[in-house]
Formats: sequence, C-alpha cells, structure tokens
Amino acid sequence: MTKEVVLFLGPPGAGKGSLSHLCVKRLGWVQLSTGNLCREHIAEGTEIGEKIDFAIKSGKLVSDDLIVDMVGRWLEEALSGDQTVIFDGFPRTVPQAEALQKLVEKRGDISLRLVRLTMLDNDLMSRLLARAICSDRECQTVYSVHEHSSLKPRKPGTCDECKGVLVRRSDDEESAIAKRLKVYHEHEKGLLSFYEKIGQTICNVEAHQPLEEVYCSFIEMTGYSDK
Ligand code: AP5
Ligand code: MG
Repeated sequence: MTKEVVLFLGPPGAGKGSLSHLCVKRLGWVQLSTGNLCREHIAEGTEIGEKIDFAIKSGKLVSDDLIVDMVGRWLEEALSGDQTVIFDGFPRTVPQAEALQKLVEKRGDISLRLVRLTMLDNDLMSRLLARAICSDRECQTVYSVHEHSSLKPRKPGTCDECKGVLVRRSDDEESAIAKRLKVYHEHEKGLLSFYEKIGQTICNVEAHQPLEEVYCSFIEMTGYSDK
C-alpha cells in the first residue's frame, strides 16, 4: 500500500504548525515537527538537546546529520501505521531533501506531496512576536495573543488542550526571528530547484488569510477529503 507523506514548507510563522494541528484533528493525520522534536530534546536536557540549544535560540539551523537521523527513526515507526504523515519544517536544506529522496526511492512505497505556505516577512515578524505555546513538551499547542485573533486561548495564559502554562518560544525574539527568516530565504531557492529538477509538483498556499481559509484553500488545492 502507498504511504502518503505531506511536506509543509514555508517561512517561520507562516502557520505550518497551526495547519498541521488542524490536519491531525480533522483528517486524523500524524505530524512530525522537527522544531518540536528539537525543543523536546532541550526540555529533557538530553545530549542532543545540549548540543542544539544555542543554535535554536539564536535562530540558526541544527546540523543536517542530526535532523536526518531524528527524522529517519521517527519515519520508520510512523510508516508502520496507515495514517498520512506530515513533515512540518522538514526538509529545510538540499542535503535534507536529498536524504529524504533517497529513502523514498529505497522504500518505493511513499507518495510525497509538497505544500508551501507563502507570506511576506513583515507580516511574519508581527505574527511571531504575538505567539504563545504550551510549555508542556508533549503538547506544544500554538496560540496567538493578538487582541483580535481567533487563535487566542480561551483563558489567557492557559492551554485549551491540556491546561498547561503558555510561554513564549526562546527564538521568538526580534533578532532571532530576523535570523530565522534570513536563514529560511538562504535555503528556500535551492530546495525549490531541487524539487523542480526531480519533477515534484509544489502546491503554493497563501498563508496571510485567516487559518480556516488557509485550511480550506489547502483542502481545495490538494483534493484531500475533509469528511
Ligand atoms: P520550527 O519550530 O519549525 O520553527 P520555524 O520554522 O521557525 O517555524 P515556526 O514554528 O516558527 O512557524 P510555523 O510556520 O509553524 O507557524 P505557527 O503555526 O507556529 O523550528 C525551530 C528551530 O528548530 C529552527 O530555527 C531550527 O533551529 C530547528 N530546526 C527545525 N527543523 C529543522 C530542520 N529541518 N533542519 C535544521 N534545523 C531545524 O504560527 C505562528 C503564529 O501565527 C502563531 O501565533 C499562530 O497562532 C499564528 N497563526 C498561524 N496561522 C495563522 C493564520 N492563518 N492567521 C493568523 N495567525 C496565524
Ligand atoms: Mg512550527
């Protein structure tokens, strides 16, 4: 049976995590956020967590080897089920895309779909400065504290899902956000040309619309069924 793997690409703050969350809830998919996985390592104080803490705080990327290794292990397990798998924030560099492609070719049973969320940097900065996340490392649900946002928690400071305490991410500080946006743009072109060269279609979704509309555009453009 063919396994569906959907890659969510897009700059910091475009809503990869928020859209993944909706797909998990409404479509029953499973999500791997490499960023969440990195933050879990840091919160647990693992050896990997100690190595990557500084890179994350300062808005740099974690090394390709570490990320590919983490993803490879998770994917083998996830593919044993029959749910569609989302990669939120992977691949981010050409070496990561090459490693994934090798795996896809080796297994021969994976169907890749690429979805790219697009949005202007100025709008991304203001979104990220208003983000709060659940501090429970297994939850990490994302909210916005913008006054008029529909993504605000019901009770200020408390996670709707698990009642955990909401916090700001250590890399949601202006200079780290600027660095993350710069790093994203440095790698995006190479990544898109890699997929163009191998004939992989990319579905572009405008991410500046309200989340429900982003989700509807995504469903409409990809043809997934939202029962
Ligand atoms: P990661 O956690 O993936 O961070 P990121 O790529 O910078 O993306 P974000 O999580 O900040 O944004 P998002 O697109 O998920 O937006 P969200 O849904 O939260 O990675 C963190 C770090 O880990 C990296 O910098 C790197 O160091 C390392 N790392 C991770 N993967 C790696 C890899 N593959 N290789 C190397 N290193 C890696 O939404 C943002 C805000 O907007 C929220 O407040 C939300 O409520 C709000 N919002 C969302 N959608 C909408 C909407 N439609 N309208 C209004 N508000 C919205
Ligand atoms: Mg995210």
